[in-house]
Amino acid sequence: MEQTLVMIKPDGVKRHLIGTIMQRFEQKGLTLVGAKLVLMSNEKAMIHYIDHREKPFYQDLVSFITSGPVFMMVWQGEDVVKIARLMIGEVDPLRMIPGTIRGDFTSHLSLNVIHGSDSLHNAEREIALHFDASELIE
Ligand code: CDP
Ligand code: MG
Repeated sequence: MEQTLVMIKPDGVKRHLIGTIMQRFEQKGLTLVGAKLVLMSNEKAMIHYIDHREKPFYQDLVSFITSGPVFMMVWQGEDVVKIARLMIGEVDPLRMIPGTIRGDFTSHLSLNVIHGSDSLHNAEREIALHFDASELIE
């Protein structure tokens, strides 16, 4: 069964949104297979966002994601990578549709509360980066 990495970013943790956001994934019928509160290392942050290494916002993004605890989750379900991205919503503040997590909880480009893997390949890569096999209960 497909799995994806969902991460509540430091702004979402500071705003006490962990429970509210987890509830949405549970209500959607997805299955939680792992979760933990983490202070991400600089090394892991650089690898996590490796696809953006050439972008002008890369250093700021790495600094932001390591600025406070993040809440890491692995969710499982059929087509869960795409379904989680639909639930999260777009990165462009003008396309954060109400009803999505970003649409309901932010209107900011970088303080956008939540991350979700953007492909099956990246989901597998990100889960392996942040979780040991022993931390996942299937
Ligand atoms: O997070 P998502 O995959 O929806 O968006 P992305 O385009 O892959 O960008 C990754 C993250 O970089 C975003 O979630 C923002 O936190 C940040 N970002 C930014 O700070 N400034 C931008 N112009 C674009 C993205
Ligand atoms: Mg992305």
